[in-house]
Amino acid sequence: MRKVTVVGAGNVGATCANVLANKDIVNEVVLLDIKPNYAEGKALDIWESSPVNMFNTRVVGSTSDYSKTANSDVVVITSGIPRKPGMSRDDLIATNAKIVKSVTEEVVKHSPDAVILIVSNPLDVMTYAAFQAAKKSSSKVFGMAGVLDTARYRSFIALELDCSPKDIQAVLMGGHGDTMVPLPRYTTVGGIPVTDFISDERLDEIVARTKKGGGEIVNLLGTSAWYAPGAAAAQMVEAIVKDSKRIFPICAMLQGEYGMKDIALGVPVKLGKNGIEEVIELKLDDKEMEALKTSASHVRKVMDTLDDMKLF
Ligand code: NAI
Ligand code: 2OP
Repeated sequence: MRKVTVVGAGNVGATCANVLANKDIVNEVVLLDIKPNYAEGKALDIWESSPVNMFNTRVVGSTSDYSKTANSDVVVITSGIPRKPGMSRDDLIATNAKIVKSVTEEVVKHSPDAVILIVSNPLDVMTYAAFQAAKKSSSKVFGMAGVLDTARYRSFIALELDCSPKDIQAVLMGGHGDTMVPLPRYTTVGGIPVTDFISDERLDEIVARTKKGGGEIVNLLGTSAWYAPGAAAAQMVEAIVKDSKRIFPICAMLQGEYGMKDIALGVPVKLGKNGIEEVIELKLDDKEMEALKTSASHVRKVMDTLDDMKLF
C-alpha cells in the first residue's frame, strides 16, 4: 500500500494532490488542511474526476485529523501563506516557520518513517525548520524548489528555440530566490550544449528571467504560482515512491558537500525510496562557486533570522 499525504489544500497542495492522483502511482492521497471542510471538498472534487481521468488513487480529505495521514510513505508540506506583490519569500518567515514546525511534528508522530518534502516558503529556511522539527536524517527531509526553477528555465529555452521542452536538460543550484544559480554550462538541448544555439547575452537574459520567475507570476496573479510548483512536487514524490533514482536539483541540508555544512541549499541529488540517495558534487568553476557562495550567504542570513525566533 503506497500512501502520500499533502498538508495544505490550497493552490499548490491541491494541485500536487491532483497531479499525483492522475499519475495513478499510489493507493491513497490524503489532503489535510486547517480550514474546516476545505481539504474534504478538494479531495472529493479530485476523486470525482477519477472515472473521467481513469485513475484508481483514492483521494481523502481531512480537517486537521492527522490520524488519517498515518503511515504515509511521503508527506508534502505546502501549508503556509503565499506572498503578495511587493513581498519577498523571506517576508513569510514569521508566519510560516510556526506552521511548518507544528505540522512537521504532527506528521512525524503519525508517519515516523515518511520522507518529508517541504514546499512552504521561504523554502530553504522552511526546509531547515522542518529538519529541526522532524529530528530525522537529512536524507529524509528536504525541499522542492530546483525542479520548479529548472522547469521555468527549460520552458523559457524551449520558447526561445521553438523546440520541445522535453529535450531541454538543465541543472540549477543555490537558494530559492533571486540569488539562485542557473548553470548554462550544464544545460543541453537534445544533448547539445545550449551555448551552440543561444548567444551568451541572450542566455543571460533567460537566466535573469528565471531568477525572477516566481515574482513574474506573483505580479500577474496577485499570489504565487501553483500549477508548475504542484507538478514539480508531484514529480519528486513519483521518483521517491517508484524508487526511480532520478537526478533532480533539490534543497538539501548540506553536511560538508561543496565545502558547506548545516545549511539548506539547492544541489543536484539522486532521489529514491530512501529520499536523498546521494548528493552529487559538480566540479564548479570559480565563477559558479562564487555565485553559489553568494546565494548560500543569503540563505544563511534568513536561517539566522529563524534561529533568532528561538522556536527550536
Ligand atoms: P494557499 O494559501 O493557497 O494554501 C495554503 C494552505 O495552507 C491554506 O489552505 C491554509 O488553510 C493551509 N494552512 C495554513 N496553516 C495550516 C496548518 N497549520 N495546517 C494545515 N494547513 C494549513 O497557498 P499556496 O499558493 O498553496 O502556497 C503554499 C506555500 O507554498 C506558500 O508558502 C508559498 O509561498 C509556497 N510555494 C513554494 C514554492 C516552491 O517552489 N517551493 C512554489 C509555490 C508556492
Ligand atoms: C515560486 O517560485 C512563490 O516560490 C514560489 O513561484
